Amino acid sequence: MKSQNKLKIAVFCSGFGSNLEAILKAEECGTLGASVAYVVCDKFDCYAIERARRHEKPTFLIDPKQYPSRRSFEETIVRFLKQERIGLVVLAGFMRILTSYFTKAYRGRILNIHPSLLPAFPGAHAIRDAYQHGSKMTGVTVHFVTEELDNGPILLQEPVAVSDKDSQKTLGAKIHQLEHRLYPKAIRIFAEKKFKINGRRVQLKGRKR
Ligand code: GRF
Repeated sequence: MKSQNKLKIAVFCSGFGSNLEAILKAEECGTLGASVAYVVCDKFDCYAIERARRHEKPTFLIDPKQYPSRRSFEETIVRFLKQERIGLVVLAGFMRILTSYFTKAYRGRILNIHPSLLPAFPGAHAIRDAYQHGSKMTGVTVHFVTEELDNGPILLQEPVAVSDKDSQKTLGAKIHQLEHRLYPKAIRIFAEKKFKINGRRVQLKGRKR
């Protein structure tokens, strides 16, 4: 498929951007099924910006402190996304909770990746929480974003076993490795429309699982 006919996605980051990197590499290898049109960042010193630059991707930098309300901040982003015909918003370590204004404007077209098997261990410290809880199994979830935090319909989910030898750091490394494989795969499923949302359940089409 020619790149101008591909689904245009915007990847939202606030930090290190290793998932962004995996997504950009998948696009370069021709396995993403979509085109990263913009990298959206709310932190102007985050490493994700450097990754975008190295991959020659445009950034949309937006400082929430410059806006009088969350609503006006989100309205500016949504206006930009619509103007650029972005078909999918991909949250990749974006450390900001979107309000219902945003989730409604892009309903069914926002994905997030979370480093646990949701609904276990929601929130910002999922790897630490699962490790400290003594879980024998944790994992990665890619889900649609709704107004409820870490609670939207699950598109893909895979487990990671926690061994007795694992430290929180080695567990984190295993989880991130899985994230980097799972997120590009989820984007491709979305781009190829190989799924159907049925209430809380997301059915995958044409895949044996
Ligand atoms: C990932 O662990 C992701 O699951 C979570 O935030 C982290 C972002 O990491 N939502 P990176 O910035 O992609 O390296």
